[in-house]
Amino acid sequence: MIILGIETSCDETGIAIYDDERGLLANQLYSQISLHADYGGVVPELASRDHIRKTIPLIQAALKEANLTSSDINAVAYTAGPGLIGALLVGASIGRSLAYAWGVPAIAVHHMEGHLLAPMLEDNPPEFPFIALLVSGGHSQLIKVTEIGQYELLGESIDDAAGEAFDKTAKLLGLDYPGGAKLSKLAQLGNSQRFTFPRPMTDRPGLDFSFSGLKTFAANTVHQHSPLDEQTRADIARAFEDAIVDTLVIKSKRALEQTGYKRLVIAGGVSANLTLRQKLAELMQKRQGQVYYPRLAFCTDNGAMIAYAGMVRFKHQHIATDLSITVKPRWSLSELSTEPNSTL
Ligand code: KG4
Ligand code: ZN
Repeated sequence: MIILGIETSCDETGIAIYDDERGLLANQLYSQISLHADYGGVVPELASRDHIRKTIPLIQAALKEANLTSSDINAVAYTAGPGLIGALLVGASIGRSLAYAWGVPAIAVHHMEGHLLAPMLEDNPPEFPFIALLVSGGHSQLIKVTEIGQYELLGESIDDAAGEAFDKTAKLLGLDYPGGAKLSKLAQLGNSQRFTFPRPMTDRPGLDFSFSGLKTFAANTVHQHSPLDEQTRADIARAFEDAIVDTLVIKSKRALEQTGYKRLVIAGGVSANLTLRQKLAELMQKRQGQVYYPRLAFCTDNGAMIAYAGMVRFKHQHIATDLSITVKPRWSLSELSTEPNSTL
């Protein structure tokens, strides 16, 4: 069974082809980062227009990469939410139209289910059940996963997402959008003893996060030490990264204790953070468990995770049945149905 996956929920056009026997056959990605850089964040209208330009050429490139033609595709999966409405509509319209023209099923995929299942594309995939720490530019969630489609939200950010906090703090330090990875690189040069930032909401029970105060703490520190010299920029980056990583580790540990689970999956853009990966690996070693994450290229948005999640949903008969093209810009993972034939 061969699935074409289309991801256009934000600022990356991702197209991939996944075969349930041979694995990933093609993976094409176009990042709009340079398009939005001048504005310091994603401009939704520019994002939609660029997805219109890039999606079909990338589908053609993916077919070529896989040495296939459109008649080899058994289903088309596209991200139906959550995300920017205009951007989502581009992928949904193209996905639904191609599926209709090719006479194959169309499958609406939840972007966060894509992230959550991305580690399944690796050689040593996690078995169920597991705790998933989903940390991206739009979400920070701890989820109890008992099987495909069984996602219980244990905790989430009550304000900024982890990636958003990284990006906002990076901006304060003069780094270009999206600054998460750049801040992390700068933090490597920082002295961890110079500043101590708070670990928000770790002094009370529960699994929710709050990161907006951390960003304000960073803003105040920047203000107090301006104009910043190079070492101070690096020291602030280090203090911020240590605080956010520690907070994520403390809450993940709590979720594992609460459930007794031995497997932890991290996914979403912030799972590319090497300090987070290392600290969670140490935690799981101590707990005699195992941590799983996608390869770096599949931590951030990509088509491969959508093609894979589409294949899983296809096997569960989650096929779009009517002809309307609907997207869900806001869509909770816990609303995802496991009933056959249910789509949006
Ligand atoms: O999953 P993703 O590509 O898009 C969303 O669905 O939001 O995540 C993007 C986010 C951005 O906020 C970016 O700064 C952050 O992931 N990110 C990182 C790193 N690489 C990407 N944050 C911290 N450290 C990194 N190495
Ligand atoms: Zn994402």
